[in-house]
Amino acid sequence: MSDPIDRLLNAVEDGKSIIKNREILHFTYIPKTIQHRKTEQEQITQALSPILKQSIPPNLLVYGEPGTGKTLIIKTILNKIRTRVEKSNFPIKLVYSNSKDQSNTMGLLISLGRQIDLDEEQLPGNGLSISEVFNRLLKKINNDKLNVIFVIDEIDYLAELVQKTGKDILYQLTRANERLEQGSLSLVGVSNNLNFKENLDPRVISSLGEEEIIFGPYNAEQIEEILQERIKDAFLENSVETGAIKLCAAKSGGEHGDARRALDLILKAGEIAERQQSEKVTDKHVAEAYIKMQDQIIKSSLKALPLQKKLTMIAIMRSKGSSTNEIYSTYKNLCQSIGKEELTNRRIKQMLSEIDIAGLISGKLVTQGTHGSTKKYTLEISTEIIKHAFKDDLSLQDII
Ligand SMILES: Nc1ncnc2c1ncn2[C@@H]1O[C@H](COP(=O)(O)OP(=O)(O)OP(=O)(O)O)[C@@H](O)[C@H]1O
Ligand SMILES: [Mg+2]
Repeated sequence: MSDPIDRLLNAVEDGKSIIKNREILHFTYIPKTIQHRKTEQEQITQALSPILKQSIPPNLLVYGEPGTGKTLIIKTILNKIRTRVEKSNFPIKLVYSNSKDQSNTMGLLISLGRQIDLDEEQLPGNGLSISEVFNRLLKKINNDKLNVIFVIDEIDYLAELVQKTGKDILYQLTRANERLEQGSLSLVGVSNNLNFKENLDPRVISSLGEEEIIFGPYNAEQIEEILQERIKDAFLENSVETGAIKLCAAKSGGEHGDARRALDLILKAGEIAERQQSEKVTDKHVAEAYIKMQDQIIKSSLKALPLQKKLTMIAIMRSKGSSTNEIYSTYKNLCQSIGKEELTNRRIKQMLSEIDIAGLISGKLVTQGTHGSTKKYTLEISTEIIKHAFKDDLSLQDII
């Protein structure tokens, strides 16, 4: 049998790779055509279009589940307006920023400043207070009579930062027009966290949500069409079987309506097919990729658990029985052996039901004759995954 390294390198050199361009499957890639979402495209365009006539667009809130096309559509509309603005020479600025890319609110404001052409000298990245940065932004908008649309993507991260720092930057942004004599600032907030409004000051909600546009999840057929279009450019012709596309759409559309997940899944399936030197991506590759992806999702949710919940998970794994009391007694021993303070039985019961809701374990009420009833918990995932996910946590190293 030939050398495995040479065999794989030869396959790449011979051009046998069926993925032609993986960038196209990346979520930041802007496809040539947007499928479906006609109403949402129209609603957002209509809301923002007054800017072309130098009128002030309303503040706008766009939200919906992950992977439903919000960022794609907002970016596409901004690009199209930009092309028209360049021809018109109107002092219009379209600014896009993702809160997730910024570690603090200052970063977000500086990014806004740079995009309306304030340089390091006019707006230093360090050393100014938030209110001074804000004043300089408004001064620039005022003096240059700029009409600005500021899109804040993943605005829920900003809402969290605002909550932590107690600074009312969002409130100030939504009310900027009251302080401007000339020019304007309209805000577009985008979020996939439907509950994020709960964290906001009601005054912000009322001014940010002047108009709200909601993106619903895609169904399997819609995801299938989105996939088909993208596969045409990303894969070699006829290298993805229809069954593979259908399964991919069913796995991501049926459950979540998430186009990003579908694109990730077909890329992973393509990689598996290539590794197996298959000439086509089949439903088997998709099924294998799906299991891998689920494992990854579970691992990252396990890794993100707070220490006490991790200890509870290990207690379930190690407990002699599966009743709440047996789990609690194992949990207490674990805490003692690693020198952590233990929580009360009541608190652990509460954690067990939270972990149950997250789908990592399942609880069943069992009656015990005359002793009443108790809840018994079993793991919904393998112990290997748990061990693997927790192995980098230093405080758990002696007990897993
Ligand atoms: N209607 C569509 N037509 C073509 N491609 C789409 C469509 N909707 C989404 N996609 C693709 O799906 C992926 C996810 O879309 P996008 O990033 O816009 O989702 P999102 O709603 O912003 O998600 P999140 O809330 O997680 O940021 C991208 O690769 C995007 O190009
Ligand atoms: Mg997005």
